[in-house]
Amino acid sequence: CPNSDLQAQRRLARTTFATKAQAINKTLHAGTLKRLDVESFSSIQDERRERAERSVLISCPPKINERKILDYLSKHGDIRNYFFYQTYGMYAVVEFSSKESIAALKGSCTIPSVQHEASVPFKSRLLSLKWTGSIGPTTVKCHEQLPISINELIQQLSEQESIDQQMQCLTEAYQLTEENISLRFLVCSLLRDIAAAYFPESIIRPFGSTVNSFGKLGCDLDMFLDLDGVSVQNQRKGSGLSLEYQVKRGASERNVTQSILSVIGECVDQFSPGCVGVQKILNARVPLVRFSHQPSGFQCDLTANNRVAMKSTELLYVYGSLDARVRYLVFTVRCWARVHGITSGIPGAWITNFSLTVLVLFFLQQRTPAVLPTLDQLRDLAGPSDKCVIEENDCTIVSDLSKIKLQGNTDTLEKLLQEFFEFYGSFAFNRSSINIRKGREQNKPEAAALYIQNPFETSLNVSKNVNATQLERFVALCRESAWLLQQGEVLKRSATPSADQIPPWGLAALLLPSVAESAGVKGRRKKKREPASERIKTLLQSLKSSRGGAGEKQSSD
Ligand code: CTP
Ligand code: MG
Repeated sequence: CPNSDLQAQRRLARTTFATKAQAINKTLHAGTLKRLDVESFSSIQDERRERAERSVLISCPPKINERKILDYLSKHGDIRNYFFYQTYGMYAVVEFSSKESIAALKGSCTIPSVQHEASVPFKSRLLSLKWTGSIGPTTVKCHEQLPISINELIQQLSEQESIDQQMQCLTEAYQLTEENISLRFLVCSLLRDIAAAYFPESIIRPFGSTVNSFGKLGCDLDMFLDLDGVSVQNQRKGSGLSLEYQVKRGASERNVTQSILSVIGECVDQFSPGCVGVQKILNARVPLVRFSHQPSGFQCDLTANNRVAMKSTELLYVYGSLDARVRYLVFTVRCWARVHGITSGIPGAWITNFSLTVLVLFFLQQRTPAVLPTLDQLRDLAGPSDKCVIEENDCTIVSDLSKIKLQGNTDTLEKLLQEFFEFYGSFAFNRSSINIRKGREQNKPEAAALYIQNPFETSLNVSKNVNATQLERFVALCRESAWLLQQGEVLKRSATPSADQIPPWGLAALLLPSVAESAGVKGRRKKKREPASERIKTLLQSLKSSRGGAGEKQSSD
């Protein structure tokens, strides 16, 4: 896509968004908080998976004519949906109305002959479009698969009129798009074609932030190979005769999972086009195969039989659906944490996004009146068909969300953000653990800097990896941010409509690199720390003189 087109599309998206954000904000302030319409989690996933099975991913030449491509492909069947995007080249996701069209399309594909090398003749749904005729005009609209840069975000936030609007704006700018979620399901479906060679009834399901409603563009793709349909045991009654499969045995469930993942990982590495950098990490607590899927740009983690994680994904989705403010606060806190190096893309002693999300949920349970119910309350509302026990863990939660009665909390987003920082700026992490099941803090069962009880595997600590230094940094930044949100200079939106850019204020000011830099927390450079009050003064100074430039040191993720 030419740059100017991209910019025009972004401008349009921004304007549309600004109108939408204002509408949402009006609703919030009118005190008519409406619960989001919720379809059952599993029915949404099933529908997306079915659509992915009717789709193909096509690498296209850089200059293409949309009409010509669609005319060509629709010879094989009716096209229901499609979109184009650019990563390492131009790609099209094309969804046909029926699966038969895929078979027809594949029937017309050839396996390329390559010079000096040989092809693995695996016929996947990742195709390449070759173009030998005249190109014609390039007429393709590309859909962004990555978030806007932090500088652009800060600029957009500064243009908003309230902190509530800023938090909504941030969420809209970062959340996964419909197209991006479709692409994620398609990648799962392409991998399932590999697994199906051994386990035809298996399903590869996405979990984590792809489907829990808190995913940011560019987040990893967590998947699990679900063999439940394969393993179901049917006791046949009747004549007294029955047949069973002869099977190999492993020493334990874990052992069997490791050997299955090892073989599937090998096939992904050897046969699956587009999958690179395959690593088998089979000795982890949850064994996994990690790789990059180049055509989509997704970093993928494939696990097996990880049903508890799927259930905690559903739990997060339910919490995110109960009140619109939950997602706004989670997205804001996740972004704030990432910008200041509280979370990281690299595994280590950092707080993870999952832990951070549970911290937000817990905080929302502590409000008076509570914004969110406890997990025990969600379990108590469950009907008989909701009962779910996985490896002796009670994972039951209500599926009919209309049974959940919220308590009518009407706090603004600004108030919630401010008080989130105050709450964790003074939380007794040294002796208390976070427990969203009970909705109250409890004595820590074991020594760990940060103890967040796993919602379903209650003997586990979600944040076991976090060390004292990382926790201290989180607490210090919470205190600074709480303080900043009380300062007139930070809260004041500049009334200079003639200026090109409005200086960062409110949430935009909290995301300024100078906060992190002056606090000595950005990167791991050793830097002499100034007293907190001096650092904050420096920030305010930089706020006053700034005309919107957010510095060059921040990355987009
Ligand atoms: N999970 C868990 N316990 C942990 C870590 C993860 O149960 N200690 C589960 C959660 O359901 C989580 C999922 O595994 O959502 C995926 O983990 P991860 O990728 O770390 O978190 P995401 O929620 O996907 O967030 P991100 O956007 O950072 O990937
Ligand atoms: Mg993830």
